[in-house]
Amino acid sequence: MPLALLGGPPTRTRPFAPWPSVNTATRKALIAAHDSGMWWQNGDSTAEELEVWLEAEFGRRVIAVSSGTAALELALASLGIGHGDEVLVPACTFVSSAAAVSARGALPIPVDIDPATFTLDTGIAEAAITSRTRAIIPVHLAGHPADLTAITALARRHHLAVIEDAAQAVAASWDGTRVGTATDATVLSFQAAKLLPGGDGGALLLRDEQTARRAERLANCGRPRGSSAYDHELLGTNARISVFTAALVLAHTRTYEHMWRARDGQWHALAQALVDRGHGGLLTQPHPKATRHDHYAVLLRLPVSLTERGVRASTVAAALTAEGIPARTLFPPWQSTPAYRDEPQVSVVPTSRAFEAAATTVTLPHQLLLDPYFPAQTASALSKIIVAVDDLIAWQQI
Ligand SMILES: Cc1ncc(COP(=O)(O)O)c(C=O)c1O
Repeated sequence: MPLALLGGPPTRTRPFAPWPSVNTATRKALIAAHDSGMWWQNGDSTAEELEVWLEAEFGRRVIAVSSGTAALELALASLGIGHGDEVLVPACTFVSSAAAVSARGALPIPVDIDPATFTLDTGIAEAAITSRTRAIIPVHLAGHPADLTAITALARRHHLAVIEDAAQAVAASWDGTRVGTATDATVLSFQAAKLLPGGDGGALLLRDEQTARRAERLANCGRPRGSSAYDHELLGTNARISVFTAALVLAHTRTYEHMWRARDGQWHALAQALVDRGHGGLLTQPHPKATRHDHYAVLLRLPVSLTERGVRASTVAAALTAEGIPARTLFPPWQSTPAYRDEPQVSVVPTSRAFEAAATTVTLPHQLLLDPYFPAQTASALSKIIVAVDDLIAWQQI
């Protein structure tokens, strides 16, 4: 059967249900926030309600803010990290994990990844520590938890703060420890594509009360929470969450666990469907100590039969998308983007595994896992694509 990329019939014609899910509950939540007339944090709004929910979930002090990026900047600022400091950041992540460090005037140092989990390699991180290193930002990429045991031990040995970037994993756990519950700070994102979507928004989870009080002021123009007076105790910014975002996120919290079970079941169904077709090696497997994987994305590794002929991940992503399975490539290592081109201390740091991962990995968004036909159709589309090496190469050359 010819590839849909080259004009053949696609494997799937029906579009997947969109994400974020739009339903009666989200509409009601939004209207209730509207009708309450409380359009600002006043001690009794959806913003505080969301913080209370998150505090109960994580056992941490929580400050709901305007985005995951803002939460990262506030985490660094409230921990006193800035000019002259270095912060270790995995090379494979969304740019904000590093850009937030740069925004503080500190230097993000790229750390190569563990090729099996796509999360930072702690041995490489340790070798990158200098007298200026102040913090490490593990990223729970695509819902897979980073090795929190090794990272917290490393941080203890070298007196580093740990700021978890959990934008892509709300409930993942490593060796029984839930993300966000064992380190100094954790950042969540409520951007529309995320597992708890609210349009935009984020949250900062903090271990220490004093740091939390500082972060709360930094996010509220330097004022204590709830104050609308001119009592600016610190130089802050406005990173408050919108009460409408908070209402939408709260609505999604009610279906979170149910959605996770559905994603997890479908992930296993996909694994089986790929094994049945002899393509079991394509799907990246969780580390045995990843006691819960949040499945923010499905990561598929190109087989050697394609990579040795020079087929790129972007080509396979285009072929899958044409077959009706929307796919993308992984992040390019952030230090290779134009934003960091003029930062030689950063752009030349070798991270060959992150480059290799970007060139050979295809990602599928989590919402596809909610569709009953996804496992079989994806396995079928991949079978069709993998045998068509010559067509893929021809397409690349067009
Ligand atoms: C790993 C990671 N970190 C940080 C962010 C930034 O979050 P936000 O888009 O809410 O600023 C994102 C999301 O896009 C992300 O995927």
